[in-house]
Amino acid sequence: MTRSRTMGVTATAPHLASPILAFVLAIAFLIPGVAAHAGNDKGLSKEDKACLECHAKPGLDMTLADGKKLSLYIPAKAFAESTHNSSGCDGCHSEIDMKSHGTEKKIISGKREQSLALMDSCRDCHKKTVKQYEDSVHAALVQEGSQKAPLCSDCHNPHATRSAKDMTGHAEPVPCEKCHESIARAYTESVHGQAGDEALVCTDCHHTHNVKAASLGENLKNECLSCHRDAVAKHKVWLPNTERHLEAVSCPACHSPKAKRRVNLRLYDGVARQQVSEKVGVPQFVRMAQVADMDGAGLDGRALWSLLQDFNRSGEEGKMVLRGRLEVQTGVEAHQLAKKSQAIKDCDTCHREGAESFQSVSVTMAGPDGRPLRHDARKGVLNSAESLGSVGGFYAIGSTRIKLLDTLLILTLIAGIGIPVAHLAVKWLSNRARAKRVVAEARSAAQAKGQTSPDDRRPGGNTPN
Ligand code: HEC
Ligand code: HEC
Ligand code: HEC
Ligand code: HEC
Ligand code: HEC
Ligand code: HEC
Ligand code: HEC
Ligand code: HEC
Ligand code: HEC
Repeated sequence: MTRSRTMGVTATAPHLASPILAFVLAIAFLIPGVAAHAGNDKGLSKEDKACLECHAKPGLDMTLADGKKLSLYIPAKAFAESTHNSSGCDGCHSEIDMKSHGTEKKIISGKREQSLALMDSCRDCHKKTVKQYEDSVHAALVQEGSQKAPLCSDCHNPHATRSAKDMTGHAEPVPCEKCHESIARAYTESVHGQAGDEALVCTDCHHTHNVKAASLGENLKNECLSCHRDAVAKHKVWLPNTERHLEAVSCPACHSPKAKRRVNLRLYDGVARQQVSEKVGVPQFVRMAQVADMDGAGLDGRALWSLLQDFNRSGEEGKMVLRGRLEVQTGVEAHQLAKKSQAIKDCDTCHREGAESFQSVSVTMAGPDGRPLRHDARKGVLNSAESLGSVGGFYAIGSTRIKLLDTLLILTLIAGIGIPVAHLAVKWLSNRARAKRVVAEARSAAQAKGQTSPDDRRPGGNTPN
């Protein structure tokens, strides 16, 4: 858009190759009206030309209520070449009344407020896209008052919109990186970023307009599996209980080998079978977690249990449960996916006492925009007998063993807490025994094949069959 401006500036540069041409161009852009007749307005309607009589002048600006200057310069050429030349200025600026326009001062509080107000006009012609956008985490953030989440015009210059057909598929950089710089950097180094012609862009996994909060539901995992259709079958070859693992362990937790992992205990509606999201304007999670975590040192087993009880008492939500998922700690790490030869295969990485993966635990509920609200839990909750009722469904044999289980079983029976708990414990014990057996078997099978550690493996040639 600064093309004509640059030319105006370079006209005064002493080393210019063609001073005469530059002079002519400078005049063309600086004298009102001339620009519109210099071939830049090809294909523009009479009405649009009328607007550009004033607005194609580089110097035109106005002062906003926040004291900042807003340039009112609209380059005619870029607009004439944009997909919107057919709709015309009036298509989006129908509110402008030429009788008073430009003479009566208009109060605009700031650039962002103006973009927000004018964004409504997109709806008239792009219903479907606007609807997708409104369903996104970005739109939810805007609703919450975020000054940083993108509006339409942060990604599309409304006065120079090119057709997506002009953007040649994956080669075109997607504007996500403007705001998610560190993730974009990590992503470029990843197996997908480095895949040459096959390299993906952000929107292949996150969508363009309907971007969802990353840790919400199974969206992203399903995206992975929609391209890697044989992935489940390929893991089955070596990973017992594959479905369970793929549910309880996020893809990056194994495929981003250098990442730090953590256990995320997600509040889950066991009846509706989905993650629980907080309603707009009814903050509960942060407050209730603080109340349950009396000394602020992180939720322990008992506090976790009482938090769940509180939710189940206050909610019409149904049966609230916790669902554990092993995941990476940061958004950057989630994008450092490596070649398959570097993925974590060694059972002991997780199924070992004191395994690194289980040293950090948090409890989350999806906030109104879908992003997780967090409260730390003590790592002990995974080992604590008191947590059996709340996190009993999540355990990795060997690492999160509940040492006092036998005692607990007796105690619960004596205390008469009831048959359900005892039943749960028995089921848990037998699962555990079975699972332990499977791990041991897999381990000795692996040893027999001489591949106990991932360092032994060579790229590609290590699939047991
Ligand atoms: C006679 C010159 C002139 C013409 C013709 C003109 N404008 Fe403007 N326009 C201005 C000036 C001057 C301002 C700054 C007004 C202020 O300071 O409040 C402005 C401000 C604006 C603004 C920002 C403030 C607002 O009202 O939102 C928009 C958008 C705008 N013009 C669009 C248009 C469109 C669309 C047309 C054609 C329908 C048009 N203008 C025609 C001179 C003009
Ligand atoms: C596709 C819709 C659309 C069309 C067509 C359009 N505008 Fe705009 N215009 C906007 C939006 C949206 C903004 C708010 C600025 C932003 O968000 O960057 C804006 C802002 C402006 C501004 C204020 C300066 C600024 O950058 O914020 C002026 C002046 C303006 N438009 C003039 C025009 C003129 C003149 C035309 C026709 C040549 C035109 N517009 C065509 C959507 C449009
Ligand atoms: C975060 C950046 C971003 C935001 C915000 C955004 N877009 Fe887009 N949009 C893109 C990209 C990139 C494409 C190119 C094609 C693709 O990836 O789908 C695109 C394509 C489009 C298309 C053509 C293809 C289609 O999906 O119909 C339209 C129309 C469009 N955007 C309108 C809008 C409107 C209206 C808004 C605001 C409600 C908006 N966009 C917000 C990045 C964005
Ligand atoms: C008066 C109708 C109208 C309005 C209002 C309008 N557009 Fe468009 N837009 C069109 C038409 C017509 C096209 C070209 C045909 C198409 O591809 O849909 C288009 C194309 C686009 C494209 C490129 C689509 C492609 O084919 O790749 C984008 C991006 C886009 N518009 C964004 C916006 C944004 C952002 C706004 C609001 C600031 C907006 N439009 C407002 C009519 C409109
Ligand atoms: C104009 C700045 C801007 C642009 C452009 C932008 N985003 Fe965002 N995005 C934000 C902000 C601000 C947040 C909220 C803070 C955060 O989570 O990083 C956010 C949040 C997100 C989230 C949710 C994060 C979570 O915790 O779950 C995802 C996913 C996301 N963006 C993906 C994208 C993708 C994909 C694109 C490109 C299509 C994109 N963003 C373009 C500013 C932007
Ligand atoms: C191969 C698929 C894929 C691609 C491509 C991808 N992401 Fe992600 N993204 C993910 C996954 C998986 C997560 C983590 C989800 C989870 O928490 O389970 C994530 C998380 C995020 C988050 C939330 C981070 C947080 O703090 O929790 C943002 C923001 C984001 N991605 C932006 C981007 C941007 C920008 C790009 C392009 C540079 C991109 N992503 C490319 C899969 C992808
Ligand atoms: C749009 C399709 C697409 C999506 C979505 C996608 N991938 Fe990929 N993935 C590819 C392509 C293409 C390659 C590079 C070619 C290849 O090796 O298969 C690749 C490579 C990989 C590799 C390296 C395989 C090897 O042979 O070393 C892993 C691991 C991987 N993807 C995991 C994931 C994960 C995890 C997700 C979701 C977060 C995901 N992919 C999402 C297309 C996709
Ligand atoms: C428990 C760790 C773990 C989890 C969880 C995991 N993977 Fe893997 N994945 C691996 C290992 C290890 C390999 C390499 C296996 C081998 O030796 O060939 C692999 C291989 C792959 C491959 C390459 C397959 C091939 O041979 O062509 C893809 C693609 C892949 N995984 C995608 C995914 C996706 C998508 C997810 C999430 C749904 C996921 N993985 C979850 C450990 C895991
Ligand atoms: C990245 C960490 C990780 C790796 C690597 C891993 N697991 Fe697991 N595994 C888990 C987690 C977490 C669970 C708990 C699932 C749950 O209870 O929801 C689990 C559960 C299990 C279970 C019990 C499933 C059930 O029925 O509840 C078995 C058996 C098992 N793993 C065996 C293995 C074997 C054998 C390997 C190596 C080939 C392995 N795992 C590698 C994390 C891992």
